[in-house]
Amino acid sequence: MRGKLVAGNWKMNGSLASVRELIDGINRGMDTIQSAGVAVCPPAVYIPEVAARIGGGRLALGAQNIGDQDGGAFTGEIAGSMLRDFGCRYAVVGHSERRSIYAESDQLVARRFAAARRAGLVPILCVGELLEEREQGFTEAVVGRQLDAVIELEGIAGFADAVVAYEPVWAIGTGRTASPDQAQEVHAFIRRKLADMDAGIADRLIIQYGGSVKGANAAELFSMQDIDGGLIGGASLDAGEFLAICKAAD
Ligand code: 13P
Repeated sequence: MRGKLVAGNWKMNGSLASVRELIDGINRGMDTIQSAGVAVCPPAVYIPEVAARIGGGRLALGAQNIGDQDGGAFTGEIAGSMLRDFGCRYAVVGHSERRSIYAESDQLVARRFAAARRAGLVPILCVGELLEEREQGFTEAVVGRQLDAVIELEGIAGFADAVVAYEPVWAIGTGRTASPDQAQEVHAFIRRKLADMDAGIADRLIIQYGGSVKGANAAELFSMQDIDGGLIGGASLDAGEFLAICKAAD
């Protein structure tokens, strides 16, 4: 039986002082979370500080991105082995902000996914459609294409040690959450598509929902059959709100 995983994506927010306050606040509440997995993904420069403050506890650490190469002349990129050095367990790949603002292609995202696995990290592959794409009825085509790029490179076996996050772009940072039924429909599509290739892998795969998740709407979303937790943006910057979401997944 797959568990639930809630991950906080802090994006490019915070300062050394605010990061310390946030992680200490989350740490203090962790003993109230029983079964859900919990991770935080700080801006890369704060990873060592956060790692030192969480120690060896249950709270896991992730990166917001990962280099597609293992090392060398790739200015500005961070290799998976470096993230491992500082205790990371997860690496987000293909967040819609990377895809749309920094023009990352499905193929580059797939290479980042592969690099995470080579380094022994669990990739959190973000997929999701734009509002225009949903309105034109292309949601499954877009999400299917984003999955296919990874399947082409890594095969279905690549999803055995991975997480998928369905993040409809129109729901990110907008306060406009997908309804539980809307989200469930896409989550079920993702699982069905992968189950056609390997039912066991699809059944065990954690599929998170992301897009304006808050303490107030988390329980309803997480109660859906194929929604296995969340990837949280804005609400993960407040320890109390983030812990409320984690409790909803518990
Ligand atoms: P919000 O929770 O701020 O909508 O962001 C979601 C997200 O992009 C998480 O990766």
